[in-house]
Amino acid sequence: MTTTPNPLRDPRDKRLPRVAGPSVLVLFGVTGDLSRKKLLPAIYDLANRGLLPPGFSLVGFARREWENQDFRQLAYEAVKEHARTPFREDVWTHLAEGMHFVPGEFSDPGAFDALAMAVKELDTTRGTGGNYAFYLSIPPKFFPQVIEQLRRSGLAEHGPGSWRRVVIEKPFGHNLDSAKELNRTVHRVFPEESIFRIDHYLGKETVQNILAMRFANTMYEPIWNRSYVDHVQITMAEDIGIGGRAGYYDGIGAARDVIQNHLLQLLALTAMEEPTSFSADSVRAEKAKVLSSVRLPADLGRATARGQYAAGWQGGEKVRGYLEEEGIPLDSRTETYAAIKLEIESRRWAGVPFYLRTGKRLSRRVTEVAMVFQRAPHLPFSHTDTEELGQNALVMRVQPDEGITVRFGSKVPGTAMEIRDVNMDFAYGESFTEHSPEAYERLLLDVLIGDPPLFPRQEEVELSWEILDPIEEYWAEHGKPEQYKSGGYGPESADLLMARDGRAWRRL
Ligand SMILES: NC(=O)c1ccc[n+]([C@@H]2O[C@H](COP(=O)([O-])OP(=O)(O)OC[C@H]3O[C@@H](n4cnc5c(N)ncnc54)[C@H](OP(=O)(O)O)[C@@H]3O)[C@@H](O)[C@H]2O)c1
Repeated sequence: MTTTPNPLRDPRDKRLPRVAGPSVLVLFGVTGDLSRKKLLPAIYDLANRGLLPPGFSLVGFARREWENQDFRQLAYEAVKEHARTPFREDVWTHLAEGMHFVPGEFSDPGAFDALAMAVKELDTTRGTGGNYAFYLSIPPKFFPQVIEQLRRSGLAEHGPGSWRRVVIEKPFGHNLDSAKELNRTVHRVFPEESIFRIDHYLGKETVQNILAMRFANTMYEPIWNRSYVDHVQITMAEDIGIGGRAGYYDGIGAARDVIQNHLLQLLALTAMEEPTSFSADSVRAEKAKVLSSVRLPADLGRATARGQYAAGWQGGEKVRGYLEEEGIPLDSRTETYAAIKLEIESRRWAGVPFYLRTGKRLSRRVTEVAMVFQRAPHLPFSHTDTEELGQNALVMRVQPDEGITVRFGSKVPGTAMEIRDVNMDFAYGESFTEHSPEAYERLLLDVLIGDPPLFPRQEEVELSWEILDPIEEYWAEHGKPEQYKSGGYGPESADLLMARDGRAWRRL
């Protein structure tokens, strides 16, 4: 048999790629938004990169009276529209042969019995070896029901030499109590090592590069501490509003949607100590140590800010305010912007504030972690020749323009000793010819391989809620979020939060 060379692999690259073993991926909620925009395209991209085994099979489950062919058509359209890598007929045909659809309602035991029969048959016809991953891309209120159905139908049980894994999408609960309840529910059926909680930020190359940069080099770690760092700013700004997701977003808000998971994970990776190895246990233990040392300031009124976008202009278009969005009650207090100041009680970080902010309908889409360094203790230059220097900064740009920027003072060409701030840039797109895979490609592959370091474990989820719960309770008791203009920089109270500390947010 001849194999087609994979055009996406560099022939000089002699490393063995990580390839998944024989397995079935069961996708609950396969007709949903996440599945069509991210999961199905990512599965195709993995197939295109030669990272799925020949008998790999994908089973879709949703409430449609569909045949396999209808499911394949949905997947085909999703791949055509959203896949990262070029469309190749041979790859698609091979992948589509392994796609099956099981119609069903989560409350119907018969549907799960049919699913159990379908995957068993795939073991025989496609050699999938009894290895099943169940991806719950479904509204969170159905998690307990689906988990229970997996138990009842025997799908959660595996024989010797095979495995079962369950993948859960955020939100992992609504607060600490509901997160604990969810964990109890899942643990009744699956052991912790079989549970893969998706925080798709951890699948991003640039987020993993935080660890590479810190621990593969010698020049950063010596200054990565309170002796040199003045403060840290972690930002995830979006230029879009809530779109059609009113039902999901209202009552959740920016802090639960983004800070509890993505931003606290970025904080943990930025602040953690060096793990003894990159094994799941070591990395997650260091992250948990940081999260358990996070301290909230005593006065939450001064250390937090929240806002709600008002009408305005964005990208030349007039846009509605949050309260005018379809499906949002006029008296909604859900925040679409949140900023918080945290401290970490450790020898490395004592006294260094970490400022976290996220918001919708801001001027620009950007996610970054900025280490802002202390000012030079003395400048031996005349004031007239030195512009007011900013502070040195090291900015890890997560998206868009993935890369790293170092900001420092430099001499302006000329006869005087004139100093000004300049940027030095590393851009992924310029240094590497290969494009970064999508986060979901990496994470889906890790699930099928059974490699868990990039998935938060229960302890981290609960520690993150312990940080957020007091803030949510404070907000619930203290009025409404401040209105801020769409297309701007967020509420004034967020600027004030920084100004009180003699600092300012980096411009978006
Ligand atoms: N969308 C995103 O960008 C995004 C981002 C991060 C995390 N998430 C998380 O990902 C998960 C899925 O989100 P989504 O936006 O894709 O949701 P969605 O568009 O509402 O899709 C829900 C899916 O669940 C199925 N479903 C709902 N009720 C069902 C029932 N009773 N029985 C059988 N199937 C049922 C629907 O199938 P039918 O065809 O039968 O209706 C549909 O396929 C959620 O946990 C969400 O929080 C989503």
